[in-house]
Amino acid sequence: MSLLKDQVAIITGAGTGIGAATAVRFAREGASLVLVGRRREKLDEVVARIGQSARVSVVPGDVREQKVSEEAVRTADERFGRLDVLVNNAAFMRAVSFIEVDFDAWRQMLDVILFGCVRFSREAARLMIAKGIAGRIVNVTSIHGTQAEAGASSYGAAKAAVNQFTRCMTVELAPHNIRTNAVAPGFVDTPMSWADGVCELETEFFIEQYVRRRRIPMARAGRPEEVAAAILFLASEESSYVNGHVLTVDGGLTCAF
Ligand SMILES: NC(=O)c1ccc[n+]([C@@H]2O[C@H](COP(=O)([O-])OP(=O)(O)OC[C@H]3O[C@@H](n4cnc5c(N)ncnc54)[C@H](O)[C@@H]3O)[C@@H](O)[C@H]2O)c1
Repeated sequence: MSLLKDQVAIITGAGTGIGAATAVRFAREGASLVLVGRRREKLDEVVARIGQSARVSVVPGDVREQKVSEEAVRTADERFGRLDVLVNNAAFMRAVSFIEVDFDAWRQMLDVILFGCVRFSREAARLMIAKGIAGRIVNVTSIHGTQAEAGASSYGAAKAAVNQFTRCMTVELAPHNIRTNAVAPGFVDTPMSWADGVCELETEFFIEQYVRRRRIPMARAGRPEEVAAAILFLASEESSYVNGHVLTVDGGLTCAF
């Protein structure tokens, strides 16, 4: 299959986890890529995994910086001559009660997750519109954008804001033939599942609650490749009439209570 043949995509947070899996999958589907992330060595590892099968540029940098979004879009335009797909995936999670969390931490969370998405979407949409490209923007949000968990107030509020920003972009960008959707993963086995040297997915609590008691009906966490497949669907023509949608990818976790 070549669902993204001759297409150009930017992926943020592409050095690890879901972003890296999406980069590998997009390359396999024929896309040329601009990979953005904070750590150059992680981006280089993904480039090595892709090998010679696709053209890839890396833009090391922080999505909180406007110039990084400008450089990524400029790279797509100057090296590949176009931009078809943007995947806003970069994020971090820090579990802390909102009673404890200070405003600097709140601002940092919103700056990465919400404003990072806004910055990249704006730059990408401007180029797509200028070139008359029927582009797609896919935002990676989370089930935390709709479900509440103690300690996830700033992360959840930022993800909920991205869900709504996705829908607002949909109505503004549809006249330009640009579609915007989001993917909301549940538990996925990535570096984000680790905190203080412990993998959340291997704790007795997770295994008892989500696996044995089947709070996740499929009784397992997801793999990054399974989220990448959903992102690919929304980034490709296979989803040509899907717009303004948040696609949950959680093994059934949020359909029950
Ligand atoms: N793993 C899960 O269980 C899970 C669940 C729901 C949603 N998500 C979402 O999936 C997306 C990918 O996360 P993941 O699970 O692959 O974890 P991850 O930590 O492997 O990936 C996040 C990537 O974003 C990068 N990043 C963070 N802050 C950045 C910044 N300021 N500038 C540039 N890059 C930055 C990190 O370096 C990392 O490579 C995130 O948006 C996350 O919120 C993950």
